Amino acid sequence: MTESDAAPLNLFDFERLAARRLPAMVYDYYASGAHDERTLEANRTAFERIRLRPHVMRDVSTRDPSTTILGRRHPLPLIAAPMAFQRLAHPDGERALARATSSLGLTMTLSTLATTALEEVAAVATAPAWFQLYVYRDRALTRDLVARAEAARFEALVLTVDAPLLGRRERDARNAFALPPGLVAANLPSAGPRTLDAAPGESGLFRYFASLMDQSLTWDDVAWLRSITSLPVLVKGVLRGDDASLAIEAGAAGVIVSNHGGRQLDTAIATIDALPEVVAAVAGRVDVLLDGGIRRGTDVVKALALGARGVLLGRPLLWGLAHEGEAGARRVLELLAEELDLALALCGAARLDALTPDLLA
Ligand code: GLV
Repeated sequence: MTESDAAPLNLFDFERLAARRLPAMVYDYYASGAHDERTLEANRTAFERIRLRPHVMRDVSTRDPSTTILGRRHPLPLIAAPMAFQRLAHPDGERALARATSSLGLTMTLSTLATTALEEVAAVATAPAWFQLYVYRDRALTRDLVARAEAARFEALVLTVDAPLLGRRERDARNAFALPPGLVAANLPSAGPRTLDAAPGESGLFRYFASLMDQSLTWDDVAWLRSITSLPVLVKGVLRGDDASLAIEAGAAGVIVSNHGGRQLDTAIATIDALPEVVAAVAGRVDVLLDGGIRRGTDVVKALALGARGVLLGRPLLWGLAHEGEAGARRVLELLAEELDLALALCGAARLDALTPDLLA
């Protein structure tokens, strides 16, 4: 048995296993960031740079990692981030991820660009799920997606606001990223927005965004969205305090500090570095979440200590899916939960509300 065949011990092991299993075009699509991938890297290095100042001697014999988000108790401060085209990772794709998250009572965020229709995912999810929304220039089409998500009892909408155009991921351009035969953007009703074609030297998804997504969005469109749905709207992709305030004024029920996993504007600030300013501006008015670079239980501790109510986990779940489908994604979540539990014990924090900024150096 080689080292790489051993059971994965951490989220990085899952990436190595997935990299061996997935076709290069798929691995690159998931793994890559925009341009020089500086923000992708910074999301990790910023977490690594922060040091912990743990408390000792604080009865940690029972530990409670639960949190409240949008007024509902979550057993762990972990939510599956929206990620497109999950059937590229495993034939069961989004359904497998819905089963894995639900089995732990956790919420999954289904991407607009899923390879499984939202109704099919809702049918297998036993924990409340969220629906990530891209606003198409075709507002009737967008309105229909929202109505379907509401009818299928998704708990909230996650409006992605950092992607008027898609970031340029050079690996995708080199690979002429496209969906293989048999896979489509299954939530979309008609041929145009359901398919993804590439041209040599270009990412099919880059072209897709340029031709179909609404580049004119402003905060007024959050009000429009709220006028067509009773679902709460979380705004994902905020990196500044002033934008977080505008999101709340526009009616957002939550703010997700995100740079799209380093896939949009390269050299944008790391999310953990952006978090304090956003938390200060939000001042407790709505829940703040964070994604980008979460790989260790201590990363979760750091985000919560700086004021996030929870974090969204992205790529590692795809690596889990690629390795072993539902069981792999579940194992990724379990490993992170085990690391979080250990980190809480060793920080002297029996509950998440004991995580405060003074824990960080
Ligand atoms: C899709 O949203 C992507 O970032 O690839």
